[in-house]
Amino acid sequence: MSRPKIALIGAGQIGGTLAHLAGLKELGDVVLFDIADGTPQGKALDIAESSPVDGFDAAFAGTTDYADLAGADVCIVTAGVPRKPGMSRDDLLGINLKVMKAVGEGIAEHAPNAFVICITNPLDAMVWALREFSGLPKNMVCGMAGVLDSARFRYFLAEEFKVSVKDVNAFVLGGHGDTMVPLARYSTVGGIPLPDLVKMGWTTQDKLDTIIQRTRDGGAEIVGLLKTGSAFYAPAASAIEMAEAYLKDQKRVLPCAAHVEGAYGLDGFYVGVPTVIGASGVEKVIEIKFDKDEQTMFDNSVKAVKGLVAACKEIDGSLA
Ligand code: APR
Repeated sequence: MSRPKIALIGAGQIGGTLAHLAGLKELGDVVLFDIADGTPQGKALDIAESSPVDGFDAAFAGTTDYADLAGADVCIVTAGVPRKPGMSRDDLLGINLKVMKAVGEGIAEHAPNAFVICITNPLDAMVWALREFSGLPKNMVCGMAGVLDSARFRYFLAEEFKVSVKDVNAFVLGGHGDTMVPLARYSTVGGIPLPDLVKMGWTTQDKLDTIIQRTRDGGAEIVGLLKTGSAFYAPAASAIEMAEAYLKDQKRVLPCAAHVEGAYGLDGFYVGVPTVIGASGVEKVIEIKFDKDEQTMFDNSVKAVKGLVAACKEIDGSLA
């Protein structure tokens, strides 16, 4: 049996890290695609040359030709431009929408059976556009944001409680932007929900609020430090977790930007929700009950994403 094929569309900071992680985890053979000739080939060769040291078996190729995506089981899309300090994710919309058109058409032609994970920002609008341009089944196209936002939340909580990150679970839903919805009630340390931990006196509501805001600003914090690009280690690790869930049919419960039809009162819309990811892609959207405040935050977030989708339709008439 041949190894799965993982196509990474965009061989920049995240793309290179994805390739390295896919190799280290022996998820399959990797093809790096980019428009910048030399970059995907150079990264592929560099990572391949690390494989004898780390002892993983996988083939790595770099290409500028969409035809080399043929037969891919998974496509992870990071093509586009990242943020610079002072820019919001939404500022990237016009440029990255054109990239999604080219990428969507390339996937449709050469890898129509792949599970597609979009990372390019502004995420919720880009994954919607990528699905529209590619025409792939909706359960096979999703966006990576919730795993990353939840990982940031989990890390900050583990630091606050001085416990292992392994014992912290957290859910961040909604759009991947300033309106994202970290859900304290559904986030736990050792199974104990955060509001109970406040009542137990293990932390204060003020400290929790600060952590929640830091989670919302997590991407900007990294952009501010790096100055020349945006986060790439944690986004890559998050997308690899989703790819692995699909390739190994793990039925993982992961928050991701999924096509939501019916649940949450939405009628065919991409936004961050809890899902089950397995061999059929996004196999289930889990509809949780919100309290009043959570519902308000979620509605706000949906409104922001709807605004971005409307802007996409204005820029590219074929999407209207
Ligand atoms: N087709 C293929 N690749 C493209 C295209 C295109 N049309 N346009 C740009 N690229 C490539 C660039 O050449 C570059 O190598 O996409 C790559 C992007 O890499 P980086 O600039 O290093 O950006 P990265 O940090 O990887 O982030 C990529 O993910 O998190 C988001 O906001 C981030 O939208 C950004 C994306």
